[in-house]
Amino acid sequence: MSLSAVDLSAVPAHVACVMDGNGRWAERRGLPRTAGHEAGLDALLDAVDGALEIGVQWLTVYAFSTENWSRPREEVRFLLEFNRSNLATRRDELHERGVRLRFIGGRDRRLPRSLLAEMDAAAELTAENRRLTLTVAFNYGGRAELTEAVRRIVASGVQSTQVTEQTIRANLATPDMPDPDVLIRTSGEHRLSNFLLWQVAYSEMVFLDVLWPDFSRTHLFEAVVEYQRRERRFGGLDQ
Ligand code: IPE
Ligand code: IPE
Ligand code: MG
Repeated sequence: MSLSAVDLSAVPAHVACVMDGNGRWAERRGLPRTAGHEAGLDALLDAVDGALEIGVQWLTVYAFSTENWSRPREEVRFLLEFNRSNLATRRDELHERGVRLRFIGGRDRRLPRSLLAEMDAAAELTAENRRLTLTVAFNYGGRAELTEAVRRIVASGVQSTQVTEQTIRANLATPDMPDPDVLIRTSGEHRLSNFLLWQVAYSEMVFLDVLWPDFSRTHLFEAVVEYQRRERRFGGLDQ
């Protein structure tokens, strides 16, 4: 799908992506799964450029779930180090493009301190950028995020009758982030896998068969065009 098919007056403000299919991409080529994760990085960078090109303001990507710790130790170790080193080498080019980098997910002891330090450095360097906010969900789970929100609300001592949807939203990882307009999942799987459970209540779901390493901005444009064809009702009736 080319850029010209996109209606630039109705671009979604927020696109969320479950970047899935790296392992299968590699296996089909007789390569180790890690080669799929490496190829997946190029896909992400192209998606960022595509988002900048059409003016998407928020892009949120699922990089590592709270359930992904159950993968073989070698793969987990690779992913931790791969993300650390790419943050160090890529943050400047993202900064030059006006991208604000943010991270959501648990900062527990399983994350090496060096990775947390790179996340903090990248977030700090790019904090003032506003062209595009790229939120990377790492060690993220929607249930963990909601559990954490409940803990904070209880700890605040607020009366139960005073708890509103707004209270919950304000205690999520990114209270200032608009809900995703579109959620894309690649690789032909049709599930959320614990991604942004609260925030996707009214997102348009776009499932693509492409494996994540084969994803590029043209697939992003395809998903945006599909979103633009849909009629969002939010529980009301067509005008
Ligand atoms: C997505 O690709 C990346 C992560 C979950 C880290 P997968 O690694 O899940 O690839 P498949 O689904 O096994 O093909
Ligand atoms: C979801 O993909 C997590 C990420 C893309 C980081 P998974 O491959 O882990 O999800 P399942 O296991 O297919 O549900
Ligand atoms: Mg997968």
